[in-house]
Amino acid sequence: MTKVIHVKDLKKTFITHKRKHGLLNAVKSLVKREYKTKHALRGVSFDIEEGEIVGFIGPNGAGKSTTIKALSGVLYPSSGVVNVLGYTPWKDRVKYVTHIGVVFGQKPQLHWDLPPLDTYWLNKEVYDIPRKEFEKRLNHMIKLLDVEEIVQTPTRDLSLGERMKCKIIAALLHNPKLVFLDEPSIGLDVVAKDKLRDFILDINQRLKTTFIVTTHDMGDIERLCRRIIIINNGVIVYDGPIAKIKSDYLTHKHLDVKFNKLDKKFRFKGCKIIEASDYELKLELDTKKQTIKNVVNYLITEFDVADIIVQDPPIEEIIQKIYKQKEK
Ligand SMILES: Nc1ncnc2c1ncn2[C@@H]1O[C@H](COP(=O)(O)OP(=O)(O)O)[C@@H](O)[C@H]1O
Ligand SMILES: [Mg+2]
Repeated sequence: MTKVIHVKDLKKTFITHKRKHGLLNAVKSLVKREYKTKHALRGVSFDIEEGEIVGFIGPNGAGKSTTIKALSGVLYPSSGVVNVLGYTPWKDRVKYVTHIGVVFGQKPQLHWDLPPLDTYWLNKEVYDIPRKEFEKRLNHMIKLLDVEEIVQTPTRDLSLGERMKCKIIAALLHNPKLVFLDEPSIGLDVVAKDKLRDFILDINQRLKTTFIVTTHDMGDIERLCRRIIIINNGVIVYDGPIAKIKSDYLTHKHLDVKFNKLDKKFRFKGCKIIEASDYELKLELDTKKQTIKNVVNYLITEFDVADIIVQDPPIEEIIQKIYKQKEK
């Protein structure tokens, strides 16, 4: 097996200048500066092999983006070792970037006023991709993601989800060995999410491309990743198979049920009422004691149901459970 990423004891401390509002405070701060330190990463270590798709998850502010930035070479860490594809990202940036693909939520990777297709042709020159090869890859990707028309529309006229698909093509056209995806499913509907996941799996299987995916979407993780790394407060709290997290912690589903009329008492084994109002019930289902199918069946035969939404618990809740387990 080939190791693609080696991270050892990575630390990053941000020191920011604390400044209060107002003119007087601005003048004061010229004389006496107050600093605030934030330990964003407190010694992060992991290794990733070629061809893995790793889910990198954690609550807001956990240190996900800081890690990805250090790995993609746009951030100098305070200390620690990072070796990616034989490079130290922030030192060898120029040579290194041709081997990676990066899709960041906020970073504009497409020219705003041009159709994505024009950006792709520019990238072809930047990365020196042979024409035949370029066209083959591009056509394949356009077909898989179903974006024939979209890539010919100026970026500014595209929806968030359409833009995300186009960005991912832009990040992959030069066949990088390693790809960082930050929240790839944001703004996509269910069908588009499925397409994108199939697309990532296709690239991964055909080209052995390694992916690191940060996401809040448990669906992404379940479909794509066999391994997940969970970070909280700058520390890795779990690194291992998704299967273990599923069996140990993803033991509940949340059901949000809306009624046309709620005129009977709801009672069902394995199902707890979290919140109730005249027309709505929020339920927590213990999937070890009861199946979703049974509850839904019970609901629609016994009640006048308008809508049912089934969801996984948020990642924050799973992390809390992992902590509680550790304390025991
Ligand atoms: N440039 C910066 N200056 C100061 N603090 C920062 C900076 N970037 C990130 N942080 C802080 O570091 C912590 C981790 O941030 P980040 O890696 O962006 O979290 P995540 O991506 O997991 O939401 C947060 O508390 C954030 O406020
Ligand atoms: Mg982030």
